[in-house]
Amino acid sequence: MSADTRFWHPFALMSQVRRNEFVITRGAGAHVWDADGKRYFDACASLWCVLVGHGRGEIADAAAAQMRELASYSAFGAFTSAPATSLAERIAGYAEGVVDDPRIFFGSGGGDAVDTAVKLARRYFNAIGQPDRMHVISRTQGYHGTHGLGTSLGGIAVNRDGMGPMDPETSQVPWDNLEALEAQFTSVGPDRVAAVIAEPVIGAGGVHRVPPGYLQGLQELCRRHGALFIADCVISAFGRLGTWMGVERLGLQPDMITFAKGITSGYVPLGGVVISGKIAEPFWEGDGLWFRHGQTYSGHTTACAAAHANLDIFEREGLLERSIELEEQIIGAFAGLEGAPLVGELRTGIGSLAAVAFDREALAAHPDIPMRVFAQTRDRGVLTRMLGDAVAISPPLVATQEDIEAGTAAIGEALSAVAGDLGVA
Ligand SMILES: Cc1ncc(COP(=O)(O)O)c(C=O)c1O
Repeated sequence: MSADTRFWHPFALMSQVRRNEFVITRGAGAHVWDADGKRYFDACASLWCVLVGHGRGEIADAAAAQMRELASYSAFGAFTSAPATSLAERIAGYAEGVVDDPRIFFGSGGGDAVDTAVKLARRYFNAIGQPDRMHVISRTQGYHGTHGLGTSLGGIAVNRDGMGPMDPETSQVPWDNLEALEAQFTSVGPDRVAAVIAEPVIGAGGVHRVPPGYLQGLQELCRRHGALFIADCVISAFGRLGTWMGVERLGLQPDMITFAKGITSGYVPLGGVVISGKIAEPFWEGDGLWFRHGQTYSGHTTACAAAHANLDIFEREGLLERSIELEEQIIGAFAGLEGAPLVGELRTGIGSLAAVAFDREALAAHPDIPMRVFAQTRDRGVLTRMLGDAVAISPPLVATQEDIEAGTAAIGEALSAVAGDLGVA
């Protein structure tokens, strides 16, 4: 048992965690080591984000070189730095053909990006003389971070418990049902909807793929009703779906795309929004309008330099293609879990991420199954991610087929061990 701590961990039951911190000390490639020197396959790439793998000296070198030159300077008003301006240009190049005439707004992570996109959608409609368009629709099981708007839009209900009033101009529809979305447009009033926000592949809410055609239908409903489509690609962009923006695999052309995680592979905090020229126009053209929004670290110089180094690795090592190979390897390995104890559903498909969802009856009787399976898998040297009804993997893109197979085998053994402990078949 470790000593008590003063570190209040995010998303943690501190009464239990305070004397049970799990200290990670080192990482290399797809592996990390704990304070006792034990090695783990980091099957979740920290929080879905270390796509280029751990221990990349060239990102550290790029960040250190930038810090020596100029660590950071505000980008408010007319200020900028070369890494910020060139990173925006680079991302706009990746977004070509997906978002029309893109502009890039930077923040420190996914939550910032979601709040930026939603505030900008509302500000845009106000600017073009449609001030009644303030409502934003999201989906059950969706996750959009823990800032004010992201909390209101989140579809994992427990994350809002006891948090007080939510943004009144938000509502949710079932994550996979287009008719429900259409009905919600009607019920809110199509002229009052500013935007619909949706993840291409739901991540934290359980790794859910939508039925074929759903997202295209969602985009089409937005277009028909004059609302904006915000694709929340905080997990999906920069590699996880094997493309730069994530949505290319689904043929989508959103008005805004939020990104974070993969842009720096988590080496330093950075996120942002890709914004279409149509939305930029009232702010960028003629006398323009203020967008009174931004964070101290918007366009952070060192974070942008680190992002460049990370993207150089992606390009040099062909990591987008590698993500597609990994997807196939994960599908193959997970097929071996079919029929394993406690398994309700195997969620694989688009993207190098997957989840084992637990049998509903077993989960209802033993709600701690995800925690138990996580712990048993960890004991076997594999770090997965606990979700509500599942455990997930989203490995670094440098993971090998052997890593995937060994990791999946460890999950299989963990399932058997937990089923044995609980006396469940
Ligand atoms: C789809 C999505 N949106 C937003 C966020 C929030 O990002 P952050 O934790 O960087 O604020 C996440 C985090 O996992 C996410 O998966």
